[in-house]
Amino acid sequence: MTVQIDHALEEIRRFRPSPEFAANAVADTSLAEAAEADRLGFWADQSRELLTWSKPFTKTLDWSNPPFAKWFEDGELNVAVNCLDRHVEAGNGDRVALHWVGEPGDTRDITYAELTDEVKRAANVLTELGVGSGDRVAIYLPMIPEAVVSMLAVARIGAIHSVVFGGFSADSLASRIDDAEASLVITADGGYRKGKVFPLKPVVDEAITKSVAGSVRNVLVVRRGENEVAWNDHDLWWHDTVGTASNEHEAAGFEAEHPLFILYTSGTTGKPKGILHTSGGYLTQAAFTHRNVFDLHPETDVYWCTADVGWITGHSYVVYGPLANGATQVLYEGTPDTPHPGRWWEIIEQYKVSILYTAPTAIRSFMKLGRQIPHEFNLRSLRLLGSVGEPINPEAWIWYRHVIGGGSIPVVDTWWQTETGAIMISALPGITDLKPGSAQVAIPGISIDILSDDGTSVEGEGGGLLVVTEPWPSMLRGIWGDPERFKETYWEKFGDKYFAGDGARRDADGDIWLLGRVDDVMNVSGHRLSTAEIESSLVAHPWTAEAAVVGAADETTGQAVVAFVILKASQAERVTDVQAASDELRKHVATQIGAIARPRQVFIVNELPKTRSGKIMRRLLRDLAEGRDIGDTTTLADTSIMQTISDQVK
Ligand code: PRX
Repeated sequence: MTVQIDHALEEIRRFRPSPEFAANAVADTSLAEAAEADRLGFWADQSRELLTWSKPFTKTLDWSNPPFAKWFEDGELNVAVNCLDRHVEAGNGDRVALHWVGEPGDTRDITYAELTDEVKRAANVLTELGVGSGDRVAIYLPMIPEAVVSMLAVARIGAIHSVVFGGFSADSLASRIDDAEASLVITADGGYRKGKVFPLKPVVDEAITKSVAGSVRNVLVVRRGENEVAWNDHDLWWHDTVGTASNEHEAAGFEAEHPLFILYTSGTTGKPKGILHTSGGYLTQAAFTHRNVFDLHPETDVYWCTADVGWITGHSYVVYGPLANGATQVLYEGTPDTPHPGRWWEIIEQYKVSILYTAPTAIRSFMKLGRQIPHEFNLRSLRLLGSVGEPINPEAWIWYRHVIGGGSIPVVDTWWQTETGAIMISALPGITDLKPGSAQVAIPGISIDILSDDGTSVEGEGGGLLVVTEPWPSMLRGIWGDPERFKETYWEKFGDKYFAGDGARRDADGDIWLLGRVDDVMNVSGHRLSTAEIESSLVAHPWTAEAAVVGAADETTGQAVVAFVILKASQAERVTDVQAASDELRKHVATQIGAIARPRQVFIVNELPKTRSGKIMRRLLRDLAEGRDIGDTTTLADTSIMQTISDQVK
């Protein structure tokens, strides 16, 4: 494993919090002091303060059987009640929970009281359909309020949701339905994207045909796209069922370790991992970080996280964190540039958004379009900006702070993962001096270290592999159905320290700089993709003999998928148009996995660089894809091969 040191580390700018911001900041230095004095006591206090437990817990952590942690084990709570009913009971039922904006321009403002009602109705329908505690429900929806309602209704009855991003293909959906043996799928006829309706129901129909588990009993369909859909016996309309159901629903308390959701993410092998999160610890850390990292003042702030609920950011920072904290937020269905490139800024102006949380890839795309577009809108309501998903380069950080934030408001870069469930490393606004490009410090109650490959801790300044040294409340509890893979992937390398798969460096001030993945996982537009998964998709095409995939640096998306493919001999003779063959293979990956996995380039080559033992040297292919001089080729079985490949690529 090699860790590359980035030029960004030369960054020396520092930004002090303004006295006005610091004076009203939610977080204060007592948090870190309390966590240092008594880490478990700190989390127990946070959990009691932030959540409502139907049965109080007396035990904070059981780590007697690592890596299987139990937090707040003997307590009971209902996650949906924590996100909804208790705010209504506290007199905040009229507060807007969701300012929803549809891509075509339709809008809905939904209060906490209305959202609670809708979730109760949906919970009643799920129960009528035979979904019970512990059953799995797949959710394949666009960014419409029903996505939030579905997740909370599933949580309310103690079932487990598996949200699948609406951009995934029928194959990807089918494999996720099968792995979790979902009994119900919640979908929509379609959703809006880039001014058009993209159909979802046909993808579900195809996925169910392809499913081998045969577990799906019903499909609940929200009407959104108004497009024609084929109808099966097991299909039900949302408006016919949820729309007419009773809004009386008594919620039971569930044990703190009751499973809440499974979310699939790419690993180093071809098969996505079903990351399992449970209730009490997850909600504690989601709520704590949402409140303190985003400086949430729920009575006055309008918060907007641009992530889709199909990703972990949407789970923790659209649904669970903000709603547990009683926040008012914007939920937007569409793409940033529809119908015009200022759409996001228009929404911020219209709803007076005060906290914006988005990804560096979006910021870089806006930078390319120029500052005149955001400058056409009034963005003065913004008072805090957040970034997530990949390292934010200092240039983008500065642009974000100046052009979007007006030059003086905090920008927090938050490092975390699907597996960590919630933010782990971030500046605390109002306290930390900000450093563009660095995620900075572990949040209070979280223990991070950087280790050398042999497991020794890197003291002071230096680089290595990022680990979490102590269990944390929102940690994954396992990989669905595969405890061995859970142990192997995260815990084998460094014993009871969690290996995150990221390279990192600590600077002289003790701030942490993330340096990207050290395994075969790519990060494209803040989304995780596995080289192995895309390679197996390419090899499944009848034309392909062999394939190698690398993540190459890309100005906008961080990394881009670049594939090198050897065609089968029979095919190679027939292919006269290399461009057409490459396009066909790109399309194939998009159809098999989803559009996010479509390679930026597919190069048809005659050879791949291999060591004497037959291992493909992806490092050399990455050099080529990034236009660098080819590195050391001495371990190749045939050292002239890179020249041949390079000539072909050109
Ligand atoms: O490599 C890190 C990168 O994204 C990976 C986690 O991806 P995922 O599980 O899809 O979750 C993304 C949203 C939380 C990490 O292993 N990553 C995430 N945030 C940052 C980051 N890299 C650098 N800086 C960040 N702020």
